[in-house]
Amino acid sequence: MPVGFVSTSSSALPALRPPVEVVNPMTATAVQIVARPGHPDFLDLPWERPLVEWHGGRLIAVARGISRHVVRFVEYDDRIYALKETQVELAEREYRLLRELRSRGLPVVEPVAVVSDRVDTAGQPLGAVLVTRFLDYALPYRYLLNDGTSAALRNALLDAMAVLLVRLHLEGFFWGDCSLSNTLFRRDAGALMAYLVDAETGELRPSRLTDGQREHDIENARENIAGGIYDLIARGRLPDGTDPLEIVDAGEARYRDLWAEVTATEEFDADERWRLEERIRRLNDLGFDVEELVVARTDGGRRLRIQPAVLEEGHHSRRLARLTGLDVQQNQARRLLNDIDCFGAWIERDTGTRPLEGVVAHRWLTEVFEPVIGAIPADLVGRREPAELFHEILEHRWFLSEAAGEEVDNETAVASYVADVLSARPAERLVVEATTTQVPVVRAGGAPEGPTVTSSG
Ligand SMILES: Nc1ncnc2c1ncn2[C@@H]1O[C@H](COP(=O)(O)OP(=O)(O)OP(=O)(O)O)[C@@H](O)[C@H]1O
Ligand SMILES: [Mg+2]
Repeated sequence: MPVGFVSTSSSALPALRPPVEVVNPMTATAVQIVARPGHPDFLDLPWERPLVEWHGGRLIAVARGISRHVVRFVEYDDRIYALKETQVELAEREYRLLRELRSRGLPVVEPVAVVSDRVDTAGQPLGAVLVTRFLDYALPYRYLLNDGTSAALRNALLDAMAVLLVRLHLEGFFWGDCSLSNTLFRRDAGALMAYLVDAETGELRPSRLTDGQREHDIENARENIAGGIYDLIARGRLPDGTDPLEIVDAGEARYRDLWAEVTATEEFDADERWRLEERIRRLNDLGFDVEELVVARTDGGRRLRIQPAVLEEGHHSRRLARLTGLDVQQNQARRLLNDIDCFGAWIERDTGTRPLEGVVAHRWLTEVFEPVIGAIPADLVGRREPAELFHEILEHRWFLSEAAGEEVDNETAVASYVADVLSARPAERLVVEATTTQVPVVRAGGAPEGPTVTSSG
């Protein structure tokens, strides 16, 4: 493409705003950016150079998984974006898939833009780039799995992956490349929540996956996860005695148990209808809302057969969002809902009446949650997500109360937590990669600092 040519090719993407077709003013090469609103236009980036040659500027080094493509990270104020250089068809396909999965409420990274029609200064074509929003507080597996990883954290990681795969399969998504590198983890009130980061090989089917498709995906996941663990052992990051097969077996068992629990058909006597309620409650406890349940009478009306047909994960998060507007993960939501409940009981003890749930929740937000988060020094508050901070403070208060033999108030608990726990904790909003050792390290301080010049990405 000649220098200065403005592309007129239309994109098949469902863009919310028209493609920005511009000439990069710095170098006068053409580029086309199809972007979602509410993000930078990315026009200041040196699109006329392959990503691997970018230096300085907005680039930052982020700890990430292993990848075939060149993936680099750029920073705009407090927002970070991941850029993946690939072929245009693949970038557009992945962008569309991620949008669709997100619109169904699934935990996947947010697609932001597709950059195409790139040429270098000699007019030679360059690959397209998929831009996704960096998932704040996302912890790559190499940060979580190391010599010091407790069995509890390892199990939390397997649980999180099992939940993610079950959710995707329920939606009819065949991942094709479920691996540790293609999953990101966020802390979730003592547990972890897994997010899909790479949908390139995925396929969305019109309905729930068949058993054959699921088995295929499980087999892929087993191979990839075992491969990731062998790699960590080879790099000396996990003890020699670690058995990758034992780990993938445990992960598979968790997936199968959860799949059975959420999809199995159950049969019971018609006069045991409470078992229907019980099944729904069990699914709610696992975090699923039952949107549709198939109930059939069998055996001349003497037996009932039930099977959950449409399930939606996020039971606790949705309830908390409805009550308080807070958007948090599943276990965090469960924890905060419990605290709202205790707060309601406390009001009732104090006044003799319990206000409506919505009123209790609103008072809890302004009288409990916000003051607790507000009491954390500004330079430390970004070390964990607010809901995670709140959860840790509740835990800390419990330990203090137990040691003191009496209830410790929130103010005392926050001060002690900040001084004794949080100040020694690494900031996890962004884990940066140590360029020399390839061991993820943590950048000091809460919010990310200014752009870092580095040769890795
Ligand atoms: N939006 C994001 N937020 C956080 N990390 C990200 C994001 N996008 C990519 N990464 C990191 O970059 C790594 C590589 O990205 P990705 O898996 O999409 O590349 P890939 O080349 O398609 O991988 P593969 O070799 O599996 O095909 C991921 O493992 C993840 O650690
Ligand atoms: Mg990948």
